[in-house]
Amino acid sequence: MRLVQLIGALVLASCTEPQSRLVTPAQIVGDAIPSPLTETAGSVPAGLSVFTDRETGHCVLCHQVAGLATEFQGNVGPDLSDVAARLSAGQIRLRIADYQIVRPGTLMPSYYRNHDLYQVAEAFQDDPVLSAQEVEDLVAYLSSLRIEDDDG
Ligand code: HEC
Repeated sequence: MRLVQLIGALVLASCTEPQSRLVTPAQIVGDAIPSPLTETAGSVPAGLSVFTDRETGHCVLCHQVAGLATEFQGNVGPDLSDVAARLSAGQIRLRIADYQIVRPGTLMPSYYRNHDLYQVAEAFQDDPVLSAQEVEDLVAYLSSLRIEDDDG
């Protein structure tokens, strides 16, 4: 009886889960989405504004980047000043799109998903928080972040 219930729950989960995700298993290789989500390449300046803008990404709520002219920067998430030295563009892309795939239960919101497990304003419930182009702009911006501290 319990096994039947478990199987029922799994079947139900497998039916409902993919519909809420925009990232398909085919796009994922390891912990990365290697291919861009859009034809138009991401723009570093556009990514910087998505990163700091309250109306769009507002990533500075939880992340810091050295040298950024934003007065308040949170520290709930890791410092991203040197993120390109740690993660490839594809790894950054999956983490922005749907970090829950990498680490279920993470505090990092899913930005390219139809709806989120975490508190999302009603207005965002049927749309991803960011457009595919905004995700690409962020990937371009973050991929440019490297601290040049070696004098070689
Ligand atoms: C509510 C807080 C919060 C917000 C807002 C947030 N993040 Fe995060 N982020 C986190 C946390 C926490 C982690 C660490 C996740 C983990 O390890 O579970 C993280 C991890 C990351 C990582 C991986 C860093 C590494 O060194 O592994 C990237 C890249 C990232 N966030 C980008 C973004 C971008 C881009 C935005 C804005 C669109 C954003 N985050 C908004 C909390 C947040």
